[in-house]
Amino acid sequence: MIFSDLDKAITYAEKQTEKSIKDLKDKFKPSHSTNNIYPMSENDEWTNGMWTGEINILYELTKRGDFKEKALEHVGAFKYRIDEMVSINNHDMGFLYSPSCVAAYKLYGSEDGKNSAIKAADYLISRYQEKGRFIQAWGPIGDPNNYRLIIDCLMNIPLLFWASEVTGDNKYRKVALAHFETSIACVLRPDDSTYHTYYFDPETGSPLRGVTHQGNRNDSAWARGQAWGIYGSALSYRYTKSEKAMEVFKRTLEFFLNHLPESVIPYWDFDFTDGSSESRDSSALAIAICGMMEMSDLTGDKELREKALKLLEELYNKCAVKDPEISNGQLLHGVYCRKTPTNDARDRGVDECNTWGDYFYVEALMRAKNPGWKAYW
Ligand code: GLY
Repeated sequence: MIFSDLDKAITYAEKQTEKSIKDLKDKFKPSHSTNNIYPMSENDEWTNGMWTGEINILYELTKRGDFKEKALEHVGAFKYRIDEMVSINNHDMGFLYSPSCVAAYKLYGSEDGKNSAIKAADYLISRYQEKGRFIQAWGPIGDPNNYRLIIDCLMNIPLLFWASEVTGDNKYRKVALAHFETSIACVLRPDDSTYHTYYFDPETGSPLRGVTHQGNRNDSAWARGQAWGIYGSALSYRYTKSEKAMEVFKRTLEFFLNHLPESVIPYWDFDFTDGSSESRDSSALAIAICGMMEMSDLTGDKELREKALKLLEELYNKCAVKDPEISNGQLLHGVYCRKTPTNDARDRGVDECNTWGDYFYVEALMRAKNPGWKAYW
């Protein structure tokens, strides 16, 4: 089964990408829109790979030379960024370099793309903490106040698996495996929900406590974090075929699907459900759908793919941009962060487009159209 409007959805997406390329010229999109419109910005956030990734996906769907040209131009910007270490001070190397530079190497054979992505992988392993066996997410390396991992990093470690494959050097894979093991031992709760972040003792490396940054409260399930767990474990399964990765995938997915509201698009934290006045986070659903389709490709599980396609149809019907007058993004109704009494986030991009929502939505369209599609991750 393919949802009936798939080709229409791809055409809308193509038009949105085409218009943004024209309007932005050599600039990037910021992490999220304001009143559904992205202004121009520089390549200096953790999210910039997402806009480039969107262009790559639309190139693959349409084979348009202008999209390829723009994606290759972006490789120059990502090369500059890692060479000059511009805002390279966190673990988000996979988010930045997989959909941009790894993709450019895989799709167009770009050597600059390959070398820049390897350099980003080198930086990522420099954040590995032997005491605790994890990649430190944020802050100065070794800083006791920042001695923690976050679930989002499951999307950064595929860059390390790829770097070992392409260089033949196992050092990247070793870090990825250690980080994965530590993460799942800490963030996955007995009820299959997940912590967003987990602190360690910098002296002994012992796990200390789960704390949220973007969730509603420390013990709640932040919807996007749960989705990072789903797709991240599917990708780790691709590179390791480990039973543990499969188990994490199944458990995080079951929790996610069992807690979706009747109206399907999840609220930004699973503390909220039908009837809540809180905002939805469409990006969480887009990410989870991609994880489901990846796992279905890896295992041949057709039922899983059918479920993912049904969710994608809902996502398209309820959140996809179909009128360029409303937005220059792809997917409405996302949430970057929401301030609550017990988290340390601030309101940002609430009920807005965000570039990762746009990216994972078009990746899901790509996967719907092309089963077995080879991911950039
Ligand atoms: N990786 C950061 C976020 O999901 O907001």
